Amino acid sequence: MSKRTIVTMPGDGIGKTVLPEAIRVLDAVGFEADYVHADIGWEFWCKEGNPLPQRTLDLIEKHKIALFGAITSKPKSEAVKELDPALAGKGYVYYSPIVGLRQHFMLDICQRPCISFKGNPLNFIRKGPNDTIEEPEVNVVVFRQNTEGLYGGVEWTDPPQQVYDAFMTHPKFSKNFGWCPKDELAISTRIFTKKYSERIIRAAFEYAKKFGYKRVTLCEKPNVIRETSGMMLAICRNMTKEYEGIHFDYTNIDAQMMWLTKDPEKYGVIIAGNMFGDIVSDGFAGLVGGLGFACSANIGEEVAIFEPTHGSAPKYENLNPSIVNPIAMIMSACMMLDYLGEVGKADRIRKAIAKVVEEGKVRAYDMLKLRGSQEVMQQGAASTSEMTDAIIAAL
Ligand code: NAI
Ligand code: MG
Repeated sequence: MSKRTIVTMPGDGIGKTVLPEAIRVLDAVGFEADYVHADIGWEFWCKEGNPLPQRTLDLIEKHKIALFGAITSKPKSEAVKELDPALAGKGYVYYSPIVGLRQHFMLDICQRPCISFKGNPLNFIRKGPNDTIEEPEVNVVVFRQNTEGLYGGVEWTDPPQQVYDAFMTHPKFSKNFGWCPKDELAISTRIFTKKYSERIIRAAFEYAKKFGYKRVTLCEKPNVIRETSGMMLAICRNMTKEYEGIHFDYTNIDAQMMWLTKDPEKYGVIIAGNMFGDIVSDGFAGLVGGLGFACSANIGEEVAIFEPTHGSAPKYENLNPSIVNPIAMIMSACMMLDYLGEVGKADRIRKAIAKVVEEGKVRAYDMLKLRGSQEVMQQGAASTSEMTDAIIAAL
């Protein structure tokens, strides 16, 4: 096969630290690719008024596959203050470049595996009968709709008159909100389409079938959010008929967050809309090691981007040597290998990580439950690159 070109977007803060570590592991496992750097993040907002420059979109358009580190986002008012004075007052508005990427390339399927590694000191434990300690094995893959819903960006403060008038035709709006002056209204919509609801649900069922998961759970709130969650449920109920041997059920997001710590081992594949998927995937990630372990894939019809779910952790970006855990980024690179059909290489890396975690000789500060600082190295923590070295040695 011809050599792949992978677009790399380290972004801000620790994104710049962990992404090169993942490439070291990809090289070590024998994955052959050319990597091209692309600009993204805060620096480009400040300098150019655009955190996601067109040249970056062009590179991704061309090569279709990208690895992404993390970006720094700040609230609107702070964003304006940090903009280059030469650009001030010219109508530049900050938006999250990762949300922008997901929408631009219609990366509608977000996959977030939350799978515990044996021996990880961060694994969730609970009390069993007679005060025994149980460590349930979590093996959940969350399928989150990535482009619609509450993060779709269709929102207003002081909505335009036509929008307001249209809302006023809804009896619940006029009755419950009609009293409020228009300029004191903030509205964020939750729009779901049948096409993209079907795509995320199909992707989840297909994944369950391919990898032998016996249970698919829709995690929404159809009893209250009847139109959107209700549509998801109706599609699931219809589709489940095509997947014999897979049990389908649904939970409400609020109850699910409680059940997370009661019986997380009972779940397999989870489907959710954009915001609830964001919430439930962070919840499950917390049971298997948290941000240092949480990886993800954003997959569209043509383009796919792989990223750890953590952010840029600015408080650690200037530590030298770096102490952050590279595993989330490395596992995101494994998801890229899976996507490219290099499952053998991905499995080798995952096994190497499992070995390092289980042996427990090399552990990042988060795995030792230390507060992050330069001192953690004296307390036995591995640096970012030592962690990567151990994984490469275990390959
Ligand atoms: P964060 O994920 O950057 O950090 C939260 C805390 O998690 C850190 O202080 C650290 O204790 C821990 N952590 C994160 N990554 C870790 C790693 N690899 N190893 C060990 N510990 C790790 O989230 P925070 O502090 O809320 O946001 C910082 C910036 O990142 C903000 O500007 C935010 O907008 C942005 N962000 C970007 C995301 C992205 O690029 N996809 C996602 C989340 C936040
Ligand atoms: Mg999140």
